[in-house]
Amino acid sequence: MERTFSMIKPEGVARGLIGAIIGRLENKGYRIIALKMLRIPPELAAKHYAEHEGKPFYQELIRHITSGPVVAMVLEGPGVIAGLRQMMGPTNPRDAAPGTIRGDYALEVDANVIHGSDSPASAAREIALFFTPGELGEAMVG
Ligand code: RTP
Ligand code: MG
Repeated sequence: MERTFSMIKPEGVARGLIGAIIGRLENKGYRIIALKMLRIPPELAAKHYAEHEGKPFYQELIRHITSGPVVAMVLEGPGVIAGLRQMMGPTNPRDAAPGTIRGDYALEVDANVIHGSDSPASAAREIALFFTPGELGEAMVG
């Protein structure tokens, strides 16, 4: 079964959108197999967004993602990596259609309320950055 990493970004938490966003993901049928709220330390933010180091928006990206608590989770379901990206909509909320999470809840690219892994390799890497194997749901059964 496929897994991906997702995160409600600080503005989503601050605006009280945790329930609305998680509700959409659960209504779709994806299973939450790990979930935590945390304030991301700068070192973890740098690892998570390593692919963007050196880009013009990198400093602001790190400042923003560490600016307040986020809700990090692992979702499981068939085709969940691409499926979550479809539910999120494009990176810039101005391009995101109504009905997508970014289309319905966001206006600016630097405050687009949700993260989702963009490939199987990213999903595996990001899940391991935020969760230990023992924190994933399957390990809790029984
Ligand atoms: P994310 O990683 O956060 O899920 O978003 P994404 O895959 O849709 O977009 P990505 O290209 O990975 O960019 C990561 C985050 O950097 C910010 N960004 N700002 N000002 C800009 O041109 C710009 N481009 C990207 C966004 O907050 C984006 O979510
Ligand atoms: Mg990305």
